Amino acid sequence: MQNGRSTFKLSGMDALYHNTDIVEVYDAINTSREDFDFYIGELPIAPATVLDVGCGTGTFALDLAQRGYMVTAIDPAPQMVARAAQKDTHGSVEWVTGLVSDLVSNSKFDVAIMTGHAFQCLLDDTQVFTLFNAVEKRLRIGGAFWLETRNPAAKSWLRWTPEHATRPIALGGDRSVQVVHELLEVKDDLVTFKERYSFNDQLGTLTSQSTLRFMEFDELKCIATKYGLKLLEVFGNWQREPLVADSPEIIIRLMKDA
Ligand SMILES: C[S@@+](CC[C@H](N)C(=O)[O-])C[C@H]1O[C@@H](n2cnc3c(N)ncnc32)[C@H](O)[C@@H]1O
Repeated sequence: MQNGRSTFKLSGMDALYHNTDIVEVYDAINTSREDFDFYIGELPIAPATVLDVGCGTGTFALDLAQRGYMVTAIDPAPQMVARAAQKDTHGSVEWVTGLVSDLVSNSKFDVAIMTGHAFQCLLDDTQVFTLFNAVEKRLRIGGAFWLETRNPAAKSWLRWTPEHATRPIALGGDRSVQVVHELLEVKDDLVTFKERYSFNDQLGTLTSQSTLRFMEFDELKCIATKYGLKLLEVFGNWQREPLVADSPEIIIRLMKDA
């Protein structure tokens, strides 16, 4: 316990996406968004319909809405969706709390996109099957599903250590936060780590523990194909270079086939 705040942990849920104090600083911490620039360059022209899966705090969805797209944004973490909706002062996006399989409307989308490595939050095959099955049902024929996952071969988790802590990140006024990662375990394709958020005010230090899955490209391709999603393109980084053994990313475009 520090400064009256306990370490925040919920079983099976990342504090990262459920603690409002951490959710509030998500945008300030995640500023370098090459993924957004990449996906915007790949979209059909507006007004196309876009499903933003695992929308988080809604920055991408709001940007798309401003560009004239018709956006539905969905995320299972109520605190992330609440933060996103709070930013949407013009009511330009349809915000939904839940999984794609929970969507009740029968709308079909031109594109579904999962940014910010949200796909890596799905920790087992059942979750991935459920996602692909639900997205396939929600896409019009010929519609695209873009997603990315960090390439396991690049072992990016090796840099998730205290030596690679961020500098204090300005939050406005005199406030700042520093984020420190600590790698806890690498087991099969699951990587577990802690993130320590040290605020310079009364919040003190909040800790989150997360697990992410690092799926192999072949496995991903195999599951997608099983659910009627054809692999159309693969890139290894945000500069649109091909996937090679040590590429940092696996970025894929799937298409709903006739
Ligand atoms: C790193 S954040 C990315 C948020 C946003 N897409 C972005 O680019 O900033 C990961 C998000 O995935 C969400 N998430 C976790 N499990 C999910 C699932 N099974 N399906 C969809 N989203 C999920 C989390 O709640 C969180 O908001």
